[in-house]
Parts: sequence; structure tokens; C-alpha cells
Amino acid sequence: MKGIILAAGAGTRLYPASQPISKILLSIYDKPMIYYPISTLMLAGIRDILIITNEADYDNFRKLLGDGSNFGLNIEYKIQYVQRGIADAFLIGEDFINGDDVALILGDNIFHGHGFSTIMHDAIQNNIGATVFGYTVKDPERFGVVEFDSNKKVLSLEEKPKHPKSDYAVTGLYFYDGNVCDYAKMLKPSARGELEITDLNKIYLEKGTLKVEILGRGFAWLDTGTHDSMLQASNFVQSMELNKGEKIACLEEVAYLNGFLSGETILKNIEGYKSDYYDYVRNVILKSMTGVRV
Ligand code: G1P
Repeated sequence: MKGIILAAGAGTRLYPASQPISKILLSIYDKPMIYYPISTLMLAGIRDILIITNEADYDNFRKLLGDGSNFGLNIEYKIQYVQRGIADAFLIGEDFINGDDVALILGDNIFHGHGFSTIMHDAIQNNIGATVFGYTVKDPERFGVVEFDSNKKVLSLEEKPKHPKSDYAVTGLYFYDGNVCDYAKMLKPSARGELEITDLNKIYLEKGTLKVEILGRGFAWLDTGTHDSMLQASNFVQSMELNKGEKIACLEEVAYLNGFLSGETILKNIEGYKSDYYDYVRNVILKSMTGVRV
């Protein structure tokens, strides 16, 4: 399975903070925002990743992440020149996907919860077309919204409805089968001029091949589209990390635990880097390799 991260938004709602640099490169607590969706894909076992950026930020993303080898990944990049919506990712990414199954995650979506890796592996294993995740929110009108019947069968999907039929938002993580590029080509721009991901998911719904998995109370899903939600996400990550002494979305650690890279390779890669983040990486790896805390 391939993975795509859509990181092309202009982030105008965060101007001036995101004027010189993509919002997705801004920090959520102690690491750039894009580390979080990358770690989500890694936890799903995905190593081939396409990052779709805007033209202005292309070099910045490459500078930060390179070809992904420091994390045991193969990262490629493509530019979205015109903001044509989320589903445009499947037109831009068609060659990269090459008929494979694919996961799409939005660059500003942060997921955290016990057992998430297993949930994603199961979703991939049992996917019959498209699998998306529902999460209750207090402001569903800001999102794609899914309506269920009493047996949790999906009845409808609506993008930013004025009168939401449920409190379940569709999160920005989607798993698709190899038909996704062909279906994306069938989409017409919405009233706001975008190829809507909700319209794509509706095609799967109409064909009876859409699954909606619910992420329950034990999960945090944060969409970091505003200064308030960025601060909230930073506070959340800080509180989790300080309490447990373990970092969230530390890519070298995930690469090590997933067996993507050896401890020796990671230690060599980060030689000479001194910061709280890299000291943590060194400590975690040395502790695991030698049993001794440094
Ligand atoms: C997008 C999708 C929406 C989804 C949300 C999740 O919204 O269109 O269906 O619920 O991401 O973050 P947008 O980022 O366009 O507001």
C-alpha cells in the first residue's frame, strides 16, 4: 500500500504565521506538524509516501525530509499548482499510486490513541473499497459528516452541512483500493470549486464498498487548522509527552520499532545533532539496544 500526504494548502487562515512557510511545517509542540501524519502512515506499515506540496514550499519539505531514508521511508514529492481540492491528490498522484491500494492523510490531521496501529492494519486488511474513520465532534458543520442508521449502517455523507445529520465527522485519513484514481476522474468541482473528498467517498458509498470505522473515546483526533487548534494540539502533545516520558510521532523511534532501520543506522544518521528531540532519539535507541539509560 502506498501513502499520500496532502500538504499543499496555502494556510491563509494562519497568516502572517504561515506567510513565509507552509503551516504544515510549523511546529506542533516539539516537531513539525508533518511529522504527525507521517508517523500515522508509518504505524499503518506504509513506507512509500508521496508528499503533495504547493510550489513555494516544495524546497522546504525536501530540506526537512529528504528522500525519507533517515526514517526508513521512500518519500517522493509532487506540486499541486492550483488548489483544486483534496481528491485532486489522486490525479496528481496517479503515476505514483500505479494501480496500488493507497492511504491518504491530510497534512494537518493528528491522530493519537492506543491500538491505532492495529486498527489501521485491520482496516487495510478488511478494506473492500474505501475505509474512512468517524469521530464525534461538537462542531460537525465544519467537516464531512456521516449519518448512520441504528445498526451503524452508513446512510449518507455530506460535506460541511448547515444542518448536520449526526455528530460524526469524517477524519482526514482515508484508505482506498486501486479504483480510486478512476473514480477521482469522474468528479466535478463543487460549488467552492474543489474536487471534494466527500464526493469521492460517496461514489464508494453508492457502490456499497465504503466502510466507516468509528474512533471511540480513547482517541484523540485533532485538525490543526486554526491558531487555537494548533495551540490545543501542542498542549495535548506536551502533556502526553511530559507525563509518559515518551514522544508522540518521533519518526526515528517509529522507524526503529517498526524494524525499518537498525539502531546503529539511526544513531549514525543523527550524529552531532543536539536538541531535546534528538537527545530523546539517542536515549530511546541506546536504552533499547543496551538496556542502559544514558
Ligand atoms: C476536509 C474534508 C472534510 C474532512 C476534513 C477533516 O475539510 O473536506 O470532509 O472532514 O478535511 O480534517 P477541509 O480541510 O477542506 O475544511
